[in-house]
Amino acid sequence: MGAPTWPPSPQRSGRPGEPGAPLELALRLEKVSKWFGGLRAVDDVELTVRPGERRALIGPNGAGKTTLFNLIAGALPVSAGRITLFGDDVTRLAQHRRAALGLTRTFQITNLFPSLSVLENALLAAQALTPAKFSMLRPRGGFGELDTRAREALRAVGLEDRAQSAVRHLSHGEQRQLEIALALAGRPRVLLLDEPAAGLSSAEAHLMTSLLRGLDPAITLLIIEHDMDIALEVAQHVTVLHYGKVIADGPREAVKADPTVREIYLGA
Ligand SMILES: Nc1ncnc2c1ncn2[C@@H]1O[C@H](COP(=O)(O)OP(=O)(O)OP(=O)(O)O)[C@@H](O)[C@H]1O
Ligand SMILES: [Mg+2]
Repeated sequence: MGAPTWPPSPQRSGRPGEPGAPLELALRLEKVSKWFGGLRAVDDVELTVRPGERRALIGPNGAGKTTLFNLIAGALPVSAGRITLFGDDVTRLAQHRRAALGLTRTFQITNLFPSLSVLENALLAAQALTPAKFSMLRPRGGFGELDTRAREALRAVGLEDRAQSAVRHLSHGEQRQLEIALALAGRPRVLLLDEPAAGLSSAEAHLMTSLLRGLDPAITLLIIEHDMDIALEVAQHVTVLHYGKVIADGPREAVKADPTVREIYLGA
C-alpha cells in the first residue's frame, strides 16, 4: 500500500452504489472479436457501460450489432477478447450462467405459449430466469415470489390489465411489450434489447420508447435500434458499429454531429 493521500481518493471510500464507491462497470468488452471464416463480423470492439446507463448500439445492416449481443449474452463464443460483467470475467461462461449473474436478453415472441395467458407466460419466464437458490424455497413461498415478479414485470410494461388475456389475442405492439416483461421477470441487472421497436407502427413505437424510458433506473440497458430517433430518445450514450468496428462512441449529441456517422446514415 502506498502512503496515505489527501484529499482521500473517492475510490477508497463508500459502499457499492453510494457516493464515493468504486466506479465498477456493469459491462466491459476488451478487444472482442468474432470471425466467421474470413469475415470479421465483430472486430476488436472496446466497450464500457456503467451501471444504470442507457446505451444505444447503432449501425447499418450487417454492422455486427446482433453478433455483438450474442457474444455478450454467451450465445456465441468469442474468437478473441475478454468480457467482464460487474467485474467478473464471463468470457468463457455459458449463457445460462451469465443469465444467473443478471444478464438477460429479450425473448422472441415465437417462443411463447400463445394459448396461455399473459400472466402465465410471465410466470414461466420468472421461473426460468430465477437463480437456482429460489427453486429450493417451499412451493408456496416460491410461487408467491414468482407471482410478485411476474405482476411487477407486467406493470412495468403497462400490461397488467391484459394479465388474463391469451397471448394470441394481444396486438403486435402488446406482444413486443410482453417480450420486455418476460425479460424483466427475472429482475435483470443488465438487459439487452435487439430492435424492440422493429415492425411497430409509429404510435406503438412511441409507446415502446416511453416504456423503455420509464424502466427501473437501476437496470443497465443496452439497446440495438435502427431508428436513430428512438435510439437517441432512450439513450444518452451511443456506440456506432460499422463493419464490425466501433467508429464512434460518446454522448448522443457528439455522435449525432460526427461527420462519419452522418455520412453513413445520410448515405444509407
Ligand atoms: N452465424 C453466422 N455465420 C456467418 N456469418 C454470420 C453469422 N451471423 C452473422 N453473420 C454475418 O456477420 C455480419 C454481422 O451480422 P449481424 O447480424 O451481427 O449484423 P447486424 O448489425 O445485427 O445487422 P442488422 O441490422 O441487419 O440486424 C453479417 O455480414 C452477417 O451476414
Ligand atoms: Mg441485427
